[in-house]
Amino acid sequence: MKEYNITVLKGDGIGPEIVDEAIKVLNRAGEKFGFKFNYNYQLLGGCAIDATGVPYPQETADACKASQAVLLGAVGGPKWDDQPGSNRPEKGLLAIREDLGLFANLRPAKIFAPLKSASPIKEEIIGDGLDILIVRELTGGIYFGDRGTYEENGVVGAYDTERYTYPEIKRIVKAGFEYAMKREKRLTCVDKANVLDSSRLWRKVMEETAVDYPEVEVSYMYVDNCAMQLVRNPNQFDTIVTSNIFGDILSDEASMISGSIGMLASASLAEGTFGLYEPIHGSAPDIAGQGKANPLATILSGAMMLRYTFGEAEAADAIEKAVDTALTLVRTPDIFEDGFAHVTTSQMGDKVAELL
Ligand code: NAD
Ligand code: IPM
Ligand code: MN
Repeated sequence: MKEYNITVLKGDGIGPEIVDEAIKVLNRAGEKFGFKFNYNYQLLGGCAIDATGVPYPQETADACKASQAVLLGAVGGPKWDDQPGSNRPEKGLLAIREDLGLFANLRPAKIFAPLKSASPIKEEIIGDGLDILIVRELTGGIYFGDRGTYEENGVVGAYDTERYTYPEIKRIVKAGFEYAMKREKRLTCVDKANVLDSSRLWRKVMEETAVDYPEVEVSYMYVDNCAMQLVRNPNQFDTIVTSNIFGDILSDEASMISGSIGMLASASLAEGTFGLYEPIHGSAPDIAGQGKANPLATILSGAMMLRYTFGEAEAADAIEKAVDTALTLVRTPDIFEDGFAHVTTSQMGDKVAELL
């Protein structure tokens, strides 16, 4: 039987609850489609700080590099909010992304048909559906630029720098075109080129790269307008390519169109097939440990792992179909509507596994 080696980082808050459900579903998919996972459990984030003093321990790095893919829950929480910026749980997440070279973050904002009425956007605006792929740059920009605090003439200040090199932009823009080619062949570059030099460099690279993809219809949009257009007419978008921070913000916004942030999965990819898979949401400290978290974003991240790292498209499709059917029957509190059975995190995982 085929065996796949993955490192599992449950993280903090709801992380352990949602990851357990993804593993339940991955194991079921393996039984059905003839493969088996070997899991190596390691620490990242606040739990790693508690155990080792640092958010991204060497042992975790070594385990990830020795495996084919990584499954992550979420990190962070109020317990570690007083840590210095250089040793916060979130710093562990940035460090792992950089260390593993995960420059391309795919965030598919897709609405499952049974959730149309759970979206805060009117059904006539959603129309036949919604299917946007946000391709977010993940290892550059303001997250990784120079930063610091200072005091000048008795005035305290702080700064963070948005900085992109040509090669960093080139590889993510190319990824944007490649994914657009597999979709409706429409690519929107979202930026702030009316203000930022870095955005103007993005546009230059876009124009250059577009020559190699004549079939792709290219457009440009300022990020403030895009935030508005996502709510006004989300269906105008097919594939969006954007910087680290703009992609972070727009994907949380887009997730809500699909009913809940608890629905949006992601794949963080390096060159080749290696990837880290995680929901786009955080550790949700407000609902941790209560069985209220929606595990579907993490389950769908597991499906993305099957698709992108392991080439198991049939198993990935089957998980997505099982999620779709589960949504016609049961709901966690974040997507609850009258007429559906109310379920806990683990009951949702059970239902998806059963329907597989
Ligand atoms: P969050 O995404 O954790 O939560 C925002 C809101 O969405 C909360 O009300 C939460 O209950 C809800 N929510 C999130 N996921 C849900 C799910 N699966 N099911 C149902 N409801 C869900 O964002 P936040 O509150 O801004 O951040 C909390 C912590 O998580 C912070 O420490 C932050 O830095 C961290 N964070 C981590 C990641 C990550 O690990 N990738 C991502 C975002 C935030
Ligand atoms: C995400 C998160 C992270 C980010 C934080 C926790 C560092 O919000 O994965 O979307 O901003 O990238
Ligand atoms: Mn985010």
